[in-house]
Amino acid sequence: MTIPRTIAIDGPAASGKSTLGERLARRLGYLYFDTGVMYRAVTLKALQTGTDVYDEPRVTRLAEIIVIDVRQASVNDGRMYDVFLDGVDVTWEIRSAPVAANVSVVSTYAGVRKAMTEQQRRIGLQGNVVMVGRDIGTVVLPDADLKIYLDASAEERARRRFVEEQARGIPTSYEDILDNVRTRDKIDSSREVAPLRPAEDAIILNSDHLDADGVLEAAIRLVEAA
Ligand code: CDP
Repeated sequence: MTIPRTIAIDGPAASGKSTLGERLARRLGYLYFDTGVMYRAVTLKALQTGTDVYDEPRVTRLAEIIVIDVRQASVNDGRMYDVFLDGVDVTWEIRSAPVAANVSVVSTYAGVRKAMTEQQRRIGLQGNVVMVGRDIGTVVLPDADLKIYLDASAEERARRRFVEEQARGIPTSYEDILDNVRTRDKIDSSREVAPLRPAEDAIILNSDHLDADGVLEAAIRLVEAA
């Protein structure tokens, strides 16, 4: 049996892509690469520097010059990895509500996507990788050996993110999260460049009635059948 060397997992906000991607990569001994981290880091940089997120040329310039580094987790606080932005650990800052509220706008910019896609492709083409995002199967790695599109209802996705944030002690409300999930879905699916949609050859996995173990088992069956 030959195991797919490049696995793309795409899907809408909070559909469980990160959990699946990390666990699948660990099971296969592959690199796990979460591309959402990069768009979140650009957004955080814009917020930190007082750059108007609607100023496309400025935000694009930031995307072209910042250094984003993802390394093995160095702190045991529930993180899957460390994220450094220009040398500073921003692992949790990129998950904050202001970043979540602005990241989809930043992700519509063609120049931002070009800068991020180039880096992602370089890593993806080395193989033995599970890459997670919105446009991996369609744009970043169109020749990926296995493409999974992980979906779930907006309500279920918001419920999961709510439980996650509560566990981290973040004051939040289910309604605000549902609102953010719906807004991001809308912007992500309707943008001109690399919109969120399943690749033609993607296998759609709905996780509404599956827990994390169930999703992993379903994905492993797809890996074995690929
Ligand atoms: O984990 P969650 O699904 O909430 O978000 P994420 O995967 O960290 O992605 C955050 C945002 O980055 C998304 O809402 C998209 O706007 C953007 N993104 C993208 O445009 N393309 C990707 N390959 C990954 C993320």
